[in-house]
Amino acid sequence: MKTMYIGLLGCGNIGSGVAKLLGEMAGTIRESYQIEPVIKSILVRDLTKQRPEYVDPSLLTVDKDKVLRDPEIKYVVECLGGEHPSADWMCEALRAGKHVVTANKMALALHWRELHEASEAGHATLYYEAAVGGAMPIIKILHDSLQANRIDRLTAIINGTTNYLLTRMTDEGLDYQDVLKDAQALGLAEPDPTADVEGEDAMYKLSILASLAFHRHLPVSAIEREGMTHVAQEDIRNAHELGYRIKLLAHATHTEEGMDAYVSPMLVPENHPLSSVKGAFNAVFLHGHACGDMMIYGRGAGSAPTAGAMMSDLINVILETANDHASQVQARENDGCVPMISDRTSAFYIRLSAQDATGVLAHVAASLSSHQIGVKALLQPVERALEGAQITILTHPASEKNVRAAIDAFDKRLVKVMNVLRVEAGEL
Ligand code: HSE
Repeated sequence: MKTMYIGLLGCGNIGSGVAKLLGEMAGTIRESYQIEPVIKSILVRDLTKQRPEYVDPSLLTVDKDKVLRDPEIKYVVECLGGEHPSADWMCEALRAGKHVVTANKMALALHWRELHEASEAGHATLYYEAAVGGAMPIIKILHDSLQANRIDRLTAIINGTTNYLLTRMTDEGLDYQDVLKDAQALGLAEPDPTADVEGEDAMYKLSILASLAFHRHLPVSAIEREGMTHVAQEDIRNAHELGYRIKLLAHATHTEEGMDAYVSPMLVPENHPLSSVKGAFNAVFLHGHACGDMMIYGRGAGSAPTAGAMMSDLINVILETANDHASQVQARENDGCVPMISDRTSAFYIRLSAQDATGVLAHVAASLSSHQIGVKALLQPVERALEGAQITILTHPASEKNVRAAIDAFDKRLVKVMNVLRVEAGEL
């Protein structure tokens, strides 16, 4: 029997979830692999804080070196979250030859190269299955299972909070602020929801996914980001009338022209598999030249799904390294630089509030057509006519630059632009 010592950085929801699962699984690991996994130290901020009974208080320490500098500890599970000091401590552990398991998408996305360099320098593995999609094994799928594919497109719902909010806005006809308050009361949204609703969380996750899928680093700075707070009930109703649902999507493509990536609320056709992803669930829909279309679906957050994914990483890395097999860095580094494309093609949803006067629609149509934008559908509900003309336009796919220019060219005395959203392509 071989004893393998583990150190935890942090013991909040996720850290204590890992300690619990490890306790539950230790017997199986012992029996199956003749390995005894033992938590040796747990770094916490506050020694006096009440912890669950499965966290052994004698393991707690406020000294990070008890984890990072203990030569017996070969595996470090980072559960602190945030950028600093997590990124620095993970680099330190990796350089010292300790294998690191983390769920920290922010530190990973912002310090991708440093972490991978530290991993190579220390010949230690960095595992991060739980960083994107919680329980959904998307990292392993991209890294291992789809190796033989050239993935050219990836569209994902990777923020459970916003998917929960948009699902309830859609299914119950509620406004954003009301659903948000409810979700906060239920603990399903953070007291400060900015990172989720402004698309930051999804942006970090997209940087990680696209870097793996395309074998090229997609830095966070190259991702265009738009949150979902401006999606109104009106947009959700219009989308439904047109046969779509609104979702906060993380989208990335890699073609011969270059890479493109953005996070934004989008209209998704009701018959698209991503449309059926409801509540706090996550899904990644991708296309590879050999596998074709594929969707992976699962629970993207929560203590047990996240701790479960971290625990699987831990078991994998222990098994890989217990017998001194050479370990592998869990991300291929990216060779060369791929340019970001300068314009993209997308269909658009444009909601306008206009004067109900002769020539207004002709003016809008003229501006669109002079920018080579075709109209696919148009709504102007008569029951809302008292509020002036409420016009909703769905365009055919067009140059995004042209769409923005056409909208800029609308006469502001006649037309007020209420919302503009991208439309996910329907053809699969
Ligand atoms: N806040 C994230 C979400 C969970 O709502 O999906 C952790 O990444």
